[in-house]
Amino acid sequence: MIKQEKILITGANGQLGSVLAKRLQEKHGVNNVVATDIVADEDFVGNFEILDVLDFERLKSIVIQNEITQIYHLAAILSASGEKHPKRTWDINTKTLFNVLDVSVIQNVNKLFFPSSIAVYGTNAPKINTPQSYELTPTTVYGISKVAGENWAKYYFDNYDLDIRSVRYPGVIGHQTLPGGGTTDYAVDIFYKAINETNFECFLSKNTTLPMIYMDDAIRATIELMDAPKKSISIRTSYNIAGMSFSPEELTYAIQKIYPNFKTLYKPDFRQKIASSWPSSIDDSVAKKDWNWNPLFGIDEMTKIMIEELKLKQKTKLQKT
Ligand code: SER
Repeated sequence: MIKQEKILITGANGQLGSVLAKRLQEKHGVNNVVATDIVADEDFVGNFEILDVLDFERLKSIVIQNEITQIYHLAAILSASGEKHPKRTWDINTKTLFNVLDVSVIQNVNKLFFPSSIAVYGTNAPKINTPQSYELTPTTVYGISKVAGENWAKYYFDNYDLDIRSVRYPGVIGHQTLPGGGTTDYAVDIFYKAINETNFECFLSKNTTLPMIYMDDAIRATIELMDAPKKSISIRTSYNIAGMSFSPEELTYAIQKIYPNFKTLYKPDFRQKIASSWPSSIDDSVAKKDWNWNPLFGIDEMTKIMIEELKLKQKTKLQKT
């Protein structure tokens, strides 16, 4: 008989965590998922624990009490927020990872998921079709913490046989929960302005092309990587995955197909420098080869769904008030 997996998610209130928690509940059963975050989520349906992942003893007791077999460690400070408090960001992003790595080894957790990012690349890397393996010279503390994390992941795999798996997420676009503190957040914020038929002020320049991925693809990549046979995983740092690539101007054109009068005004701020140091598009051929990764959503489909879903959400909210 296959043993029932028991899942722990950190950062479950976040942009990815909130959607991943639901997906994992569908897959493993509501009672087999423990969602955690530093603050409570009143609307969460299922098991929820308040957890500051810096608190190793509390993390360990939740893992023991719930007989956790898999951890998805999503709690982290993102690129733009991270630059405001560099050392604190380093501490939080790396200490929480160590706590999760160590508890996994001590408590025999079978599998661990660690999200990395396109932020691991620096200005020296080729911008187009950035290869899986290249010298990583990140420009942000977030990126530095992800490069370190990727290498520690491989170290724990090599030395403790911990089955830790990772993808380098592009900017994630979803309608469920707002992202917070990232450089790619504009690509979500823009839709809230579009549905309210107001102009959008973009903190990146119009031709800043970045790799992006629609939420459904990001979640599916995560689950498919975690389900892949161990022997097919050749990358133990982190896999490049691509969805789509576009600039703010191209996204504006896509939105104008639905809202012809929609306009974006460009006012680049400190986040421009971060975005300019990142790839424009990603070579994900290794993920395709190893575990059959294949993105399904392009810019026009994503735009259509984002607008439909956000309008629906707004309507439901208005009906409730
Ligand atoms: N979306 C993230 C950010 O902008 C990149 O991983 O920080």
